Amino acid sequence: MRRSDGGFISRLERFARLDSTQRVVARWLAEGTPEVALAVADEQSAGRGRHGRSWTAPPGAALLLSLGLRPPGLPLRHGWRLAAVVGLAMAEAAEQLAGLPQGSIGLKWPNDLVAVGGDGEPRKLAGVLGETSAEGDRVAAAVVGIGVNVDWARDDFPPQLADGMTSLRELSGAPVDREALLAAFLERLEPAYRALTAGRFDGERWAARQVTTGRRVEVATGPGESSVCEALGVDTESGALIVIGAGERRTIDSGEVVRCRIA
Ligand code: BTN
Repeated sequence: MRRSDGGFISRLERFARLDSTQRVVARWLAEGTPEVALAVADEQSAGRGRHGRSWTAPPGAALLLSLGLRPPGLPLRHGWRLAAVVGLAMAEAAEQLAGLPQGSIGLKWPNDLVAVGGDGEPRKLAGVLGETSAEGDRVAAAVVGIGVNVDWARDDFPPQLADGMTSLRELSGAPVDREALLAAFLERLEPAYRALTAGRFDGERWAARQVTTGRRVEVATGPGESSVCEALGVDTESGALIVIGAGERRTIDSGEVVRCRIA
């Protein structure tokens, strides 16, 4: 793998199969491994998604990785930006590697990467999971994981998920190399992460890719609790979704959300 590496990655391990890259990297951080630690797997037996969901993909079909970070001085209120820069770097890298037009991979708040199909519906390409620990009002450490559907043929998608998902192979019509995708991702992540830890975040770029903006969304905040509203945009300071419903403008924090779908 080509690495942009001016010492960006401190530890990199690849696994043919393990339970979850999130768990392994959390352990490394607990043992004192410095940032940026990176675990990559061909297959996970207990892959974790957001809100306690599981995350599965056939062996070799997805890019599955977790980053262990110790962002110096990052305020806790900006902890969400770690997942944002990971998602953005991957969206840009995936477009380049799959030869897709710029902007064709969108971000679906809070942390999905999607491609909008011919029918206007977003189909999930990747998901980001950020797990953060705090020290006072600062982020002490974080494990940010991403799973990207790469070389996964439509015929092999799980039938119950097929309508709502896609892969780079499906989007580009050709196989995409996971190693090359990883290298392109790290090349973009490094400057964005260094900027973030220096207090700069390109909120415009993150906001511009949001596919929810201007659409009706259904936001589920708990069992049996959801509201349909119009998404006006995202707040680049708090990371919240800005919506209007029943004439009232409000912000929804990602922590409250179980599910956000285009209504
Ligand atoms: C989601 O959309 O719910 C987030 C999914 C995150 C999945 C990735 S795959 C690599 C890393 N290891 C895990 O166990 N989960 C994340």
